[in-house]
Amino acid sequence: MKSLSLYFSPTGGGEKIAKAIQNGIDQNDYDYQFSLNLNKRPVSAETGEIETLPVIFTIPVYGGHMPKVAMERLNTLRSECNQPAILVAVYGNRAFEKALIDLEAFVRERGFNPIAAGAFPCEHSYSTDETPIAAGRPDNTDLKMAEEFGRLVREKILR
Ligand SMILES: Cc1cc2nc3c(=O)[nH]c(=O)nc-3n(C[C@H](O)[C@H](O)[C@H](O)COP(=O)(O)O)c2cc1C
Repeated sequence: MKSLSLYFSPTGGGEKIAKAIQNGIDQNDYDYQFSLNLNKRPVSAETGEIETLPVIFTIPVYGGHMPKVAMERLNTLRSECNQPAILVAVYGNRAFEKALIDLEAFVRERGFNPIAAGAFPCEHSYSTDETPIAAGRPDNTDLKMAEEFGRLVREKILR
C-alpha cells in the first residue's frame, strides 16, 4: 500500500513515529515513501494519485492542543474524495488532552475521513539532562508499537 505522510515535527520525535507508522502501513510494497516535512514550509496543492492516498497526519501537542503553526502549514490541504486520514499526536508524556480532537475536526473540515488515531509519547521539547522528561523516546519499543499501529491501519484499509 502507498500512503502519504505529512508531519510537523520541530524536535524530530514525531518524524520518527510517523516513519514507523508509514512502514507499518506501506510494508515495503514500494521502494520509496511519500512524505512531506512541514517544519519550514506549508503544504502546497497535491496532484494526481496523491489525492487518493491515505494520509498520515502527525503533529506535536502544545498546551494540550494542536499547534496553530501546524494548522497554518496544513491549511490549504483539501480532500476531494473523502480519503482516509490517520491522526497522530506526539506529546512530551504530560498529556495529549484535546490535540487529537482538534486534529480530527481540522481534517474533517477539509474533506478527509479519519479512520484511526493514536497518541505517542516522545521526549519533551523542554527535557534537559538535569530535568529529563521522556528522555530518549521514542525508543525501540515505542517505534515497534508505532509500526504495529500502522500494520493494523493497513489491515483496516484492506478489509
Ligand atoms: C510550546 C510547547 C508546549 C507543549 N505542550 C505539551 C503538552 O501540553 N503536553 C505534553 O505532553 N507535551 C507538551 N509539549 C512537548 C511536545 O509535545 C513533545 O516534546 C513532542 O514530542 C514534540 O514533537 P516533535 O519532537 O515532533 O517536535 C510541549 C512542547 C512545546 C514546545
